[in-house]
Amino acid sequence: MRVRLLDLSEQYRSLEKEIRVATDEVLASQRFILGPKLTEFETAAAEYCGAPHAIGVSSGTDALLAVFMALEIGLGDAVITTAYSFFANGGCIARVGATPVFIDIEPETYNISASALWQYIDKRCHVVEGKLVNENRQLIRALVPAHLFGLCCDMNEMLAVAREHNLVLIEDAAQAIGAEFLLENGRAKAGTIGDAGCFSFYPSKNLGAAGDAGLIVCHHDEFADRLRLCRQHGMEARYEHEFVGGNFRLDELQAAILKVKLPHLDSWSAARREAAKFYTSEFERADVRERIRLPIEPYAKSGLMNHHIYHQYVIRTPERDALREHLATCEIETAIYYPLALHEQPCFEYLGYKPGDFPEAERAAHETLALPIYPEISRDAQRYVVNCIAEFFG
Ligand SMILES: Cc1ncc(COP(=O)(O)O)c(C=O)c1O
Repeated sequence: MRVRLLDLSEQYRSLEKEIRVATDEVLASQRFILGPKLTEFETAAAEYCGAPHAIGVSSGTDALLAVFMALEIGLGDAVITTAYSFFANGGCIARVGATPVFIDIEPETYNISASALWQYIDKRCHVVEGKLVNENRQLIRALVPAHLFGLCCDMNEMLAVAREHNLVLIEDAAQAIGAEFLLENGRAKAGTIGDAGCFSFYPSKNLGAAGDAGLIVCHHDEFADRLRLCRQHGMEARYEHEFVGGNFRLDELQAAILKVKLPHLDSWSAARREAAKFYTSEFERADVRERIRLPIEPYAKSGLMNHHIYHQYVIRTPERDALREHLATCEIETAIYYPLALHEQPCFEYLGYKPGDFPEAERAAHETLALPIYPEISRDAQRYVVNCIAEFFG
């Protein structure tokens, strides 16, 4: 039996007619950039997330980049982020000329560790004229936690750090649209807790476009206006550029498709949660729970529906590479998110990190394996995956 890591063909079939109508409208209008479909999608996305402003952009990477550019983060600044995530966070910090500062992760959730973060600030930073400065005399401007695999970071802690040290809190919610977190003052969705939230609609995301697409949500009117300028090269009046931005626009075709898909997102995330639950029960049945670590659900008892949206179902074992090879021979696709921690990336060698600096991130990079998961995955396919894993551990 062949099991794909992700198969969206059934999802497309169920929405094909609506998507074709929506894209035909765009084609008939011949309006491709900054038109009504974008406004409609932004309004719907803002309402879905519970944020006053949503700004469609060209990708999740560009969402992060636009936020950093709009904040004028640059040379002499440092930005704190997780050591274990997709490259975009570190890459965008470096692209604006700032220095990425990595922090180790929690081994159970793979999200940034609040205790490691406090420790970095206590041991390696000091406050100068009310501002947080690190040992390299860089001004720490922002904190960028990433909600990895569809599970929110501990945002109570992230808010506490950001407030205490006056840092801009930017959520990398690329993998977590719709995921919820219980704050001290009530529930909130990923991306709306900090000063800005960045989303990716890369086709494999829970809400996927038919190409690259992204979104920024934020609370402040002025910042939203600035981000709208930023996605058009900082242009206010035609061909008058207030500041340097980029071409970060979300086009009409992508916006039209995303608008059709958005109303289905919660049911897709619920189906992913059901699939995750089934994996867990099957691993119990197959008696391999002792051999692998399964994803945890730290907020399951919070009463939040989307306490986890299972963008990925990630298991871990020190025998990861051999297990992956075995699964490949069983025609089961898997993925490694991510084979290197960010401080191990060749392009970040200049930052001077050493092996062992972030042991949990490094270990995760060697041990984690993402199993096939998507809303329509069949229970037969999942049972087969679990049986093949059980066979490997024999
Ligand atoms: C955690 C995280 N951040 C940022 C991004 C960047 O998004 P995009 O691929 O849309 O540029 C991704 C996408 O893979 C991601 O997973």
